[in-house]
Amino acid sequence: MALSNKILACNWKMNLKIQEATELARFVSQKADKCNASVWIAPSFTLLPHVAKILENSRVNYGAQNVHWDTCGAYTGEISPSMLKEIGCSFSIVGHSERRQIFGESNDIIIKRALGSLKHGLSVILCVGETLQEFENNETVKVVSFQVKSFLNELANASIELESFSDSKVKSIIIAYEPVWAIGTGKVATNENIASVHTTIHSIIQKYSFPFTVPVLYGGSVNENNARSILDLEVVDGALIGGASIDSRKIGMILDQFS
Ligand code: 13P
Repeated sequence: MALSNKILACNWKMNLKIQEATELARFVSQKADKCNASVWIAPSFTLLPHVAKILENSRVNYGAQNVHWDTCGAYTGEISPSMLKEIGCSFSIVGHSERRQIFGESNDIIIKRALGSLKHGLSVILCVGETLQEFENNETVKVVSFQVKSFLNELANASIELESFSDSKVKSIIIAYEPVWAIGTGKVATNENIASVHTTIHSIIQKYSFPFTVPVLYGGSVNENNARSILDLEVVDGALIGGASIDSRKIGMILDQFS
């Protein structure tokens, strides 16, 4: 993928107060105007309406960090795709390793979230990745392949009009490879590792012959110093950035490298 088409997705996680978030959103939006990459921001739920106001006429997509599959109902603590769409969200992250590990979300629940979100017209960033133990046991390919295939099998069988996903700028299905051991640790996977796992994921995706492309992002300790070399890899379609995305200096430096 050409550098100009790469996706820079910012996962703000459970961080920032309203004023900090609106200032950061304004800053990112100004940088994004001069940036060739596609910029996405996922703030926490309470920040979303405030960030939405700042970003409504900007090039930046905003979305949520998780989503339920149903439109409404007795699901305490959850948020529906239609609630997110009502405030202009275009996507949701699902299956982040923090959801899988800390909150015990199963692969089945994550697939339900992803498909529900797509059915209601929200793009999805599905996160996959192996734990440190799985990495050390050389199980990366096995674990990641299972996570990707189980989602794509269900997607292929789901009653979703896949043709409507052909315009990847509006609605897209994205996979983010985030090795759990690289998240928030400062330990980045080597470019060889990243390239190899991304190549595996791309080759799995190809077998499904979907009428759209499925970009594959890398996440895990991406920062202003390593972003460019990771994103220069042909098989890396973008980055999912955590810590560096809530620091205006760091995200500013990352965005500047794409202008
Ligand atoms: P860090 O960039 O802080 O390692 O977080 C990555 C991540 O989890 C993005 O979803």
